[in-house]
Amino acid sequence: MAEIIDGKTIAEDVIARVKQQAASLAGSGVTPGLAVVIVGEDPASQVYVASKSRRAKECGFHSVQHSLPAETSEEALVALIDELNADPAIHGILVQLPLPDHVDAGRIIQAIAPEKDVDGFHFINVGKLGTGEVATAFVPCTPAGAMLMLERVRGKDLSGLSAVVVGRSNIVGKPMANLLLAANATVTIAHSRTKDLPGLARTADILVAAVGRPEMIRGDWVKPGATVIDVGINRIAAPEKGEGKTRLVGDVAFAEASRNAGAITPVPGGVGPMTIAMLMANTLTSAFRAAGREPPAF
Ligand SMILES: NC(=O)c1ccc[n+]([C@@H]2O[C@H](COP(=O)([O-])OP(=O)(O)OC[C@H]3O[C@@H](n4cnc5c(N)ncnc54)[C@H](OP(=O)(O)O)[C@@H]3O)[C@@H](O)[C@H]2O)c1
Repeated sequence: MAEIIDGKTIAEDVIARVKQQAASLAGSGVTPGLAVVIVGEDPASQVYVASKSRRAKECGFHSVQHSLPAETSEEALVALIDELNADPAIHGILVQLPLPDHVDAGRIIQAIAPEKDVDGFHFINVGKLGTGEVATAFVPCTPAGAMLMLERVRGKDLSGLSAVVVGRSNIVGKPMANLLLAANATVTIAHSRTKDLPGLARTADILVAAVGRPEMIRGDWVKPGATVIDVGINRIAAPEKGEGKTRLVGDVAFAEASRNAGAITPVPGGVGPMTIAMLMANTLTSAFRAAGREPPAF
C-alpha cells in the first residue's frame, strides 16, 4: 500500500514556520499585511475567503477583507486595487475568483502590483516562473503546495524522473509543469485532447491530476511505485451517508491507485490545506522583500 502524503501535517508545518518568521520580522518593525477582495455572494468563495482571512490573523498578519456587492463596477475594483497597491501596510493582494461576468478578471489580475501578487497570476510572475526565475517569482499557491508535498517523498531534485501533469489550466496545470521542469523532471502535459491518456499516465514516475473530474484516473493508470499528487476537489453525491448528503473526492480513484502508487495525496486532507498555507508563505515572502530582508525558504 502507498504511503499517504498528509497535507494537513505539512500545511501545519508551513504555518508554524510562517508564524515564527512573521514574529522575527516584527523586530524590523514590519507586520505582513494581506488584503483579500471578494465580489458577490458565491457561498464557496465566501468560505475560502473567510478561512484565508482567519489563517492570516492566526499567523500574526495585518489582515484586511474587502467584501463588495456583486454589482461593483470594474472601475471601482481597479480603484480599490490601486489603493491597495499604494498601501505600505499591505504586502499581498488576493482577489477571489471567479469574479462576476461583467468584470474582466484578466484586467483586475494585471492591475495588481506584481510585487504584491501573492496568487502568482500576474504576467510578470507567470513569466518569471516560465523562464526559471523561481527564486524571485510568486508561484501560484496550489502548485507550490503540491511541490512541497512531492519534495517530502522525492526530494528537491527530480533528475531522471518522468512527470505527467493532467490538466493545463493557468492556475494549476501549467505552473505545476513549470515547477517540475525547474526541478529537473522530464515533463509531459496532458489535457482533454491527449490520446491514450491511460498509457501516457502509466509512464509517469510522478503523476499529477488537475482535471476536475471525480476519480477519472484509475488504479491501473498508475505505474507501480509512482508518486501521485491529486489536486482535484470534486463534490459528489453520497447517498450512503443519508439522503442529500455529499462527499469530496479527487480526480484519482484513491483506493485503487493506492494499491499501485508508492505515495499518494488524499482528498480531502491533501493538496487542499496546502493552498492556504502557501498563500501565507507568499505573503510573508513579500513582507520580507519589502523590508529588504532575504525571505525564508519553504
Ligand atoms: N487543492 C486546491 O486548493 C485546488 C485549487 C485549484 C483547483 N483545484 C481543483 O483542481 C481541479 C482542476 O482545477 P483547474 O482550475 O485546473 O481546472 P480547469 O481550469 O477546469 O482545467 C481542467 C483541465 O483538465 C483538462 N481535462 C478536462 N477533462 C479531461 C479529460 N477527460 N482528459 C484529460 N484532461 C481533461 C482540461 O483540458 P482542456 O484544457 O483541453 O480543456 C483542462 O486543461 C479541480 O477539481 C479544482 O477544484 C484544487
